[in-house]
Amino acid sequence: MSVRRLAPDHVQPASFAFDAANENWADQQIAKYPAGRQASAVIPLLWKAQEQHQGWVPRAAIEAVARKLDMAPMRVMEIATFYTMFNLQPVGEHFIQLCGTTPCALRGAEALKKVCEDVIGPQSTVSADGKLSWLEVECLGACCNAPMAQINFDYYEDLTPDNFRALLDDLRHGRPTKPGPQNDRSCSEPLGGGETLKDPALYDGTVIGAGDWQKRIAEQRKAAAEAAAAKVAAEAAAKAAEATPAAVESKPASETAAASRPKPSAPSQPSSAANDTPAAGGKVEKAAVAEAAKPAAPAKAEAAPVAESQPELLTAARGGKGDDLELIWGVGPKLVKMLNAMGVWHFDQIASWKAEELAWVDARLTGFKGRATRDDWISQAKKLATGWRPESALGDKPVK
Ligand code: FES
Repeated sequence: MSVRRLAPDHVQPASFAFDAANENWADQQIAKYPAGRQASAVIPLLWKAQEQHQGWVPRAAIEAVARKLDMAPMRVMEIATFYTMFNLQPVGEHFIQLCGTTPCALRGAEALKKVCEDVIGPQSTVSADGKLSWLEVECLGACCNAPMAQINFDYYEDLTPDNFRALLDDLRHGRPTKPGPQNDRSCSEPLGGGETLKDPALYDGTVIGAGDWQKRIAEQRKAAAEAAAAKVAAEAAAKAAEATPAAVESKPASETAAASRPKPSAPSQPSSAANDTPAAGGKVEKAAVAEAAKPAAPAKAEAAPVAESQPELLTAARGGKGDDLELIWGVGPKLVKMLNAMGVWHFDQIASWKAEELAWVDARLTGFKGRATRDDWISQAKKLATGWRPESALGDKPVK
């Protein structure tokens, strides 16, 4: 255990003051505590002082922190001398904390100490070039990779006198180093890799009889969502037929599906079709059905259902590259995938849609129905098609 004393007077600076950025940072820390409790910020402020003063805390910094926190200097001194995270002596550019506790000692820490003495000198002294200093410390919690050392903020483990000597040489000459185990093992696995729990079947559910459960669940969800969407579309078509029988007669039912949703007074129930879906095995995902069949906000009494009409779609992006549809507010990667699969790749396609075409697309945005109308995609796409770009990659939120 090292002796916790202040550095001798001849290395102590005459004064210490936080620089402007650190002063501001310190004020923010102090402001976290209630009035009269500013002393609670003493550890962060000492840490910041150490960081600013080449890795160690001089007497002047302890006094400056005491003044800043309106504390007796002795109170701050007690803290600085108690916690070993504060260095009271100058340290090298690379400060080596070598673990000397039992597991590391049993695995060769004594030999590493000799390397330090040989390469750097006695502990708590800085090498002549200012690059290295070292200190023996208590367990650093990496005993499974003993022996080890912490150098600045990184752990170096599985050290031997040879690789440790080479490591110190690399640090001294500014060559890149690799923190972690120095013997090529991964973390604390055995040398040569893990020896247990290697069967991939342990991680895909087959061991507990789940089989290809991810695929099965995805199929169940898809079937349930399609069944629910079909029911909503059928109900909407029936309503539209009641309202305008002549129009319905002239078009196939699928093209007259209204964009409006069932009113709250007659909420949709999960369809029997969904429950009967073979893939669902009679137990469809309730959440998916509920989401797809969820009643929308009550439509205005006078709002007429909007007929659907399929817009012009592409089989592939023009020039092999679609526009960045995520620049439309509310459109994320899932919706882009859905739109591309539908045949929508470009802003000018969306900008050219009529209300019926918007309704057609909206009705097919599984899980996002109504989003295209709600976020006024047509207006957004018209702006984007001119070459205008929003400040945020999320797009510009439409003003309602
Ligand atoms: S004994 Fe050295 S890290 Fe625990």
